[in-house]
Amino acid sequence: MGESNFIIMHPHTLKPPLKLARYPLQPIYRRLTPLLHRPVAQIQSDHKALHKPAARKTPSLLQSLKDAFGSPTPLPTNPETGIHNPFPDFQYTGTLRPHYPLSSTRKLPEHIPHPDYAADGIPRSEYAMMRKIAILDEMEMEGMRTVCRLAREVLDIAAAAVAPGITTDEIDEIVHKACIERDVILSPSLCSLPLPNGELRETQSYPSPLNYNHFPKSHCTSVNEVICHGIPDARPLKEGDIVNIDVTLYYKGFHGDLNETYYVGKPSAEAIRVVETARDCLNAAIAQVKPGMAFREPGNVIEPLAKSRGCSVVRTYCGHGINQLFHCVPNVPHYAKNKAVGIAKKGMCFTIEPMVNLGSWRDKTWPDEWTSTTVDGKLSAQFEHTLLVTDDGVEVLTARKVDSPGGPVPIPEEELKAVAARK
Ligand code: MF3
Ligand code: CO
Ligand code: CO
Repeated sequence: MGESNFIIMHPHTLKPPLKLARYPLQPIYRRLTPLLHRPVAQIQSDHKALHKPAARKTPSLLQSLKDAFGSPTPLPTNPETGIHNPFPDFQYTGTLRPHYPLSSTRKLPEHIPHPDYAADGIPRSEYAMMRKIAILDEMEMEGMRTVCRLAREVLDIAAAAVAPGITTDEIDEIVHKACIERDVILSPSLCSLPLPNGELRETQSYPSPLNYNHFPKSHCTSVNEVICHGIPDARPLKEGDIVNIDVTLYYKGFHGDLNETYYVGKPSAEAIRVVETARDCLNAAIAQVKPGMAFREPGNVIEPLAKSRGCSVVRTYCGHGINQLFHCVPNVPHYAKNKAVGIAKKGMCFTIEPMVNLGSWRDKTWPDEWTSTTVDGKLSAQFEHTLLVTDDGVEVLTARKVDSPGGPVPIPEEELKAVAARK
C-alpha cells in the first residue's frame, strides 16, 4: 500500500495518528520512553524510597508536628489487611483508588506458545509491521475465528463471577486459569501433545496482556471512572459499580480481543445510560463495516450517537488491527471527523472499542502508567469486538452467545428525558 499509513504505536493501544505525527522520524526505541519500560515493581520501590522516613536527615516542622500530634491524613496502609494506595500524593480524579500490593506474577506452563514480548515485555514484531494492513488468507481467518471463540468463552466465564465482594485480582485469576484451559481437543491422530491426565490437546492459550509492554496481569479490569487498562488488584467490587472486563487470548499464533462492561448489583440510571450508550455505539459502528469503508468512518457514527445521549467519546485510545500481532494498523478512532488512514478490504481484521464517558472526554493516567481515568471522575464504559471484513460485510468474531452473561438493559425513560431537558 503506497498510502502514507505510517503510524507510531502507543505501547498498548494505538494512539490517534495526529497526536503522534510530530515524531515520525525518531527511531522506535527513542520514542519508547524509559518511563514506559519501568516495571510496576520498580515504580513501587522508587515510590517507597521517596517516602522512606530514614531518607530525611532533619525532620520538617510539619513532620515534627505530625510526630507529636499524629498525622491528619489516614495511614496509607491498612494495618489489618496490608492494603494500601501506593500513590498517596497523586491527585485522583474520582473516588476509586488502587488497592496494593498486587498479587505475585501469575505463572504459565512453558509449553504454551508465548508471544514475543512474554519474556522481556517488548512486542518487537509489532514494530516491524507498522505500515501495511494485513489481509488474512483462509488459514489465518480460521486462526482468528478460533482464538476469538475461545476469548469469548473466557470473557463469559469471568463475567459470570462478577458480584459484590469479588476482587478484580480474583477475576484475573479466573481469566488466567480459563486461558490455560482453553484449547481445541483434537482426534488422537492429529494430536501433538498428550497431557499427563490422558487428555489429548493440541495447545493452550496465553493471556495476551500478561507482560505486554510490562502490563503486570492477565487481563484489564476498569471500574467506574476508569476508561481502560485498569490493573486487577485487591479492591472488592461494590454494589452499584460498573466494571469493564477486557480479555485477549493468544492461541496458535493469533490474538483475539474483546470486552464488555457489566453492572455490579443494581445500577443507577446514569450508569445504565453510559453503559448502554457505549454498547449501542459499538453496534452502530459495526453496522457500517464492509469492504470500501474508510477507517475514519466508525467515529462519525459513534460520536453523534454518544452526544445524543449526553455522553462524550474518548480520543486517546482507538480500535486497532489485530492478527498475529496484538496491536497493529489500522488505527480506528472512535471520535468524529478523525483523519484515520486506510479502507477496509475483505480479509482485514481489526477491533472497534469505543470508550464513552458521562462527563468530559479527557483522560488522566495514574502513576502506574496504565490505568486511564476520566478527568472529572465521572463514569466511563466500553465495549469491544474483534471483526473480520467479509465479501459484503463483517463477521463479528467475538460475538455474544445465547447464554453470555450481561447484555442490554433499557435506559430508563426519565433518564433520557432529563438529558433531553438539559440541551
Ligand atoms: N485489550 C486492550 C485493547 O483492547 C489492550 C490491553 S493492553 C494491556 O486493546 F497491556 F493493557 F493489557
Ligand atoms: Co483492543
Ligand atoms: Co481489549
